[in-house]
Amino acid sequence: MTTVTEPAIRVQGIEKSFKDLQVLKGVDFDVARGSIFALLGSNGAGKTTLVRILSTLLKADVGTATVHGFDVSGKSGDVRESISLTGQFAAVDEVLTGRENLVLIAKLRHQKNPGAIADELLARFSLTEAGGRKAGTYSGGMRRRLDIAMSLIGDPPIIFLDEPTTGLDPQARIEVWQTVKQLAERGKTVLLTTQYLDEAEQLADRIAILHEGTIIQNGTLAELKQLLPAAKVEYVEKQPTLEEVFLTLVGASAGARSDVAASANDTRKDS
Ligand SMILES: Nc1ncnc2c1ncn2[C@@H]1O[C@H](COP(=O)(O)OP(=O)(O)O)[C@@H](O)[C@H]1O
Ligand SMILES: [Mg+2]
Repeated sequence: MTTVTEPAIRVQGIEKSFKDLQVLKGVDFDVARGSIFALLGSNGAGKTTLVRILSTLLKADVGTATVHGFDVSGKSGDVRESISLTGQFAAVDEVLTGRENLVLIAKLRHQKNPGAIADELLARFSLTEAGGRKAGTYSGGMRRRLDIAMSLIGDPPIIFLDEPTTGLDPQARIEVWQTVKQLAERGKTVLLTTQYLDEAEQLADRIAILHEGTIIQNGTLAELKQLLPAAKVEYVEKQPTLEEVFLTLVGASAGARSDVAASANDTRKDS
């Protein structure tokens, strides 16, 4: 049933309301196997709602989605065995050491050699030295790395990262970015949500912008940048930043990011 050409994730016409609030109004996209796909949207855009639907924690009202070839509503057990989910709030137990956290999850997931799995993951995520310390003493970046390491136990092919760097300092963000890139290099499919333009720009093979309930653009970074004309500045062609593209597409008011919006407006005809 699962063919090589089939996308890792296929989302078709997904709608979801909470009482009177329609959060998703028909969301469609595909995620290619082995790629990093960023779902970019402001706070409250519906990113977590969509990730919860794709990870079988929530049912859509309308539409279908398949993950690793399995329908999220009809084959939820198979979907769960194919994915890992790391949320904005780390699932790390602070009283246990990093290594103990990993061993615990490996046992819960019925892995054969929990200690060896823990040691391999500690090494892979540069946590070997910290492995014997209580996770409560870890920095934000270390904790998030441990959380991602825990989610990889059982070797799922598809990784959901819901705002993996929200709340982290700049150094920790870079550490997590390196971790995410390594996942894709090892052949994992990564769907990450973010409200940070630079994160999408740094990591993603494709970026989809979720705004007012639908995907208003979906493309590579280069394709998104082509939506705005390059501006000529003193003989040097200045490419628009993803930030300029995003703000133009979502029609953000100039007040939100006045410097960027103002300089973008200087060079274009829109008002
Ligand atoms: N269980 C829920 N009940 C009611 N409203 C919800 C629920 N979950 C999310 N929402 C609302 O749906 C909207 C989208 O939320 P969410 O998916 O968390 O956005 P994001 O992750 O993009 O910040 C928000 O307005 C939020 O308040
Ligand atoms: Mg969210």
